Amino acid sequence: MLSIVEVQELVQKKIDGFCRKNGSAGIYQPVNYILSLGGKRLRPALSILSAQVFTDEIDDAVYPAIAVEIFHNFTLMHDDIMDEAPLRRGKATVHEKWNSSVAILSGDAMMIQSYQLLRKTNPEKFLEVYDLFNKTAIEVCEGQQLDMDFEKRMDVTLNEYIEMIRLKTSVLLAGAMKIGAIIGGADSLNADRMYRIGEYSGLAFQLLDDYLDVFGDQTKVGKQEAGDIISDKKTYLLIKAIERAEGEDAEVLKYWIGKRPKDPTEKVKAIKAIFSKLEVDIALKEKVMDYHDRALSELDAIKVDAERKKPIYDFAETLIGRQH
Ligand code: IPE
Ligand code: IPE
Ligand code: MG
Ligand code: MG
Ligand code: MG
Repeated sequence: MLSIVEVQELVQKKIDGFCRKNGSAGIYQPVNYILSLGGKRLRPALSILSAQVFTDEIDDAVYPAIAVEIFHNFTLMHDDIMDEAPLRRGKATVHEKWNSSVAILSGDAMMIQSYQLLRKTNPEKFLEVYDLFNKTAIEVCEGQQLDMDFEKRMDVTLNEYIEMIRLKTSVLLAGAMKIGAIIGGADSLNADRMYRIGEYSGLAFQLLDDYLDVFGDQTKVGKQEAGDIISDKKTYLLIKAIERAEGEDAEVLKYWIGKRPKDPTEKVKAIKAIFSKLEVDIALKEKVMDYHDRALSELDAIKVDAERKKPIYDFAETLIGRQH
């Protein structure tokens, strides 16, 4: 069995090989650039570890796992255009370093490349994996559209928010884990359990992403501080703050939301202060633990030797303590 670190090294080696093959032609420069900036490689690692829950033969799990990571990086490249984000992984975003046309086209190329990698899946499993990959990919687009629609609304409910993050973020973790399980030979009950582990962990993951956006150490997070506040993202923090705010706090929120000042310092300061005062960060952390626990009870329900599941368990634990 491979350890988490060994799986991560394997993933990195494959991504390095992928970049070398790309060469240096114009369209591939941003592709290799975004991949060279690191990233946690969470989805491919989880995919391979999910296969390993059911088999020692993980070779077949590698190409689909890399396909998921390339797809993820494509979504980041386009997400940064949509979110007008200047920084990604501590460096300039592709549309800032080049321009939006370049980021759109290189992103398109990456999406196609993810399918080229997926095509290398063992033919016996290919169609099932392909259908799941497609379902996942289209749901990510649906989630991204909701995320943008919500910027303009003040009445987004927590349920709507959870469904939006399930689509934009969770399904890719869930899909990655279920693909691994399918390749590893899990029966459909266990493959679905693996999907739900990814789904719940993904909800916890995106909640923490929202938290880190505002309260994280930006030198570790590597993104613009409070970008979500600047663009009126209806995160868990903001929805909960709107729900809890009374009197002057409610007025302050109403004043700033929808305003896009050239210098966002005052806006960020005012809204962040309300988040802290209303303790919505604490409410968020509780929600994270709730989803984390749900993920772990799904993992418990998979009846294999505890040692086979341990890397997934450990990985899930490190994710809830993450600082980037
Ligand atoms: C960022 O994903 C986008 C979200 C879904 C929150 P990650 O936090 O996994 O980004 P990298 O790949 O590690 O940079
Ligand atoms: C991104 O959500 C989800 C996808 C990329 C599909 P965010 O917009 O919160 O991700 P970051 O914070 O920019 O990484
Ligand atoms: Mg976004
Ligand atoms: Mg973003
Ligand atoms: Mg974010």
